[in-house]
This record gives sequence, C-alpha cells and structure tokens, in this order.
Amino acid sequence: MTLTVNKPLTITEAIESRRSIRKFVQEPMDQADLHEILRLASLAPSAWNAQTWRFAVVQDPAIKEQLREAAYGQGQLTSAPAVIVVYSDMEDTLNTVEETAHPGMGEAGRTGQRNTFNNAFGAQEVAQRGQWGLTQANIAFGFLMLAARGLGYDTVPMLGFNPEKVKEILGLPQHVQFAGLLPIGKRAEDGFPHHRHSVERITKFY
Ligand SMILES: Cc1cc2nc3c(=O)[nH]c(=O)nc-3n(C[C@H](O)[C@H](O)[C@H](O)COP(=O)(O)O)c2cc1C
Repeated sequence: MTLTVNKPLTITEAIESRRSIRKFVQEPMDQADLHEILRLASLAPSAWNAQTWRFAVVQDPAIKEQLREAAYGQGQLTSAPAVIVVYSDMEDTLNTVEETAHPGMGEAGRTGQRNTFNNAFGAQEVAQRGQWGLTQANIAFGFLMLAARGLGYDTVPMLGFNPEKVKEILGLPQHVQFAGLLPIGKRAEDGFPHHRHSVERITKFY
C-alpha cells in the first residue's frame, strides 16, 4: 500500500491547522491513508500499556445515515467519506491483557500484567473500570485527530449522539464507552479560527 501523502505536516503544523470541519470533499477515503492514520493513533501511550481503545470504521453510506440519525441529524456524519468511532472496551482489555505485556519480558511479563490488572480492576464494577478505560481511549482520540491532519485530512470530534443507539447500530457490547465519533475526509470548508484561553489563563507556574 502506498500513501497519497508525500510530505506529512510537522506536529506543530498539524496542531495549528487542525480545526473542526463539518463539510467534506465528496470522494472516498484513500484506504492506505486511513490505515496509516489508525496505525499512528494506535501508537498512543496508555497506563500499563493497556491500549483500551477500539476503532469502528464506517464507510457504508446506509450506516453513516443511521449514525447521523443517532446524532440528532448532524450532517457531518454523512458528508464525510468515513466515520471513525472511537470507543473503549475495558472488558476486552481485561480478558486479553497478556497481549499488552511487552514480548521482551517473556512469560513473567505476561503473568505480571495479568496480576497487575486483576489487582487494580478485579473488584471494580464494570462501569467504574470502563470509565478508567475511557480515559486511556481519549488519548488515542487526540492522537487520531492529529495523525489525520498530519497526513492532510480533516476531522470533527463528536460527542453529540445517543450512545445506546450507536452501540445498537454497530452491534457493540453494552459495556463499551465512547471517546467520540470522528468524521474524516478532505476539507470542503475553512472551519473557524482557533478561539482559546491564553496560556496565562490556564496555567500556574511553580
Ligand atoms: C469531545 C468533543 C465533542 C464534540 N462534539 C461535537 C459535536 O457533537 N458536534 C459538533 O459539531 N462539534 C463537536 N465538537 C467540536 C467542538 O465544537 C470544537 O472542537 C470546538 O468548538 C473547538 O473548535 P475547533 O475544533 O475548530 O478548534 C466536539 C469536540 C470535542 C473535543
């Protein structure tokens, strides 16, 4: 697979030029670019390397239309050639936690990883540990937006939808928690310039 992008943006360029885009050029997503964006997002860090995030990529127009309905009619879901649904599946993480132990640590690493997670989460309610899983998935959500921009794509993060309906549409288990929906494609509008607090407003230096 070859990427369509010749020269990725620097991280500074990607951050500066990312803005929410809700109208997209009507052309299919390049599949190699899409895969590369997902791969870059999967390099996000997580506590104990748990990697609780999971992605569901929707390119089928009929399913995008269902997502639009679940998101109170927000048109960016059908304007975008693809929608990446980012969610956390903490139960899958726990059931398969040995996969996340670094191979260099061998069997001891796998056993250690299992014990760590059993001790930390075994006694917790599914919803409570799911909330922890979501904090990790949110990191990948941020990486995903910047990876997309870095390769010349645009996105809009979305939490304005009915999560139960989205689970039903995608056949996801009840326990999963959503970082958000991410319509992705090439921008067909400029979006709004950044309006942000100053560093001084949000920072205390010690
Ligand atoms: C977690 C999250 C949820 C959001 N949900 C929606 C949404 O449902 N619909 C929408 O149009 N924009 C949504 N936004 C986009 C924000 O309105 C936008 O990021 C913010 O106004 C800053 O603008 P910018 O992204 O262009 O810099 C969401 C953003 C975030 C980070």
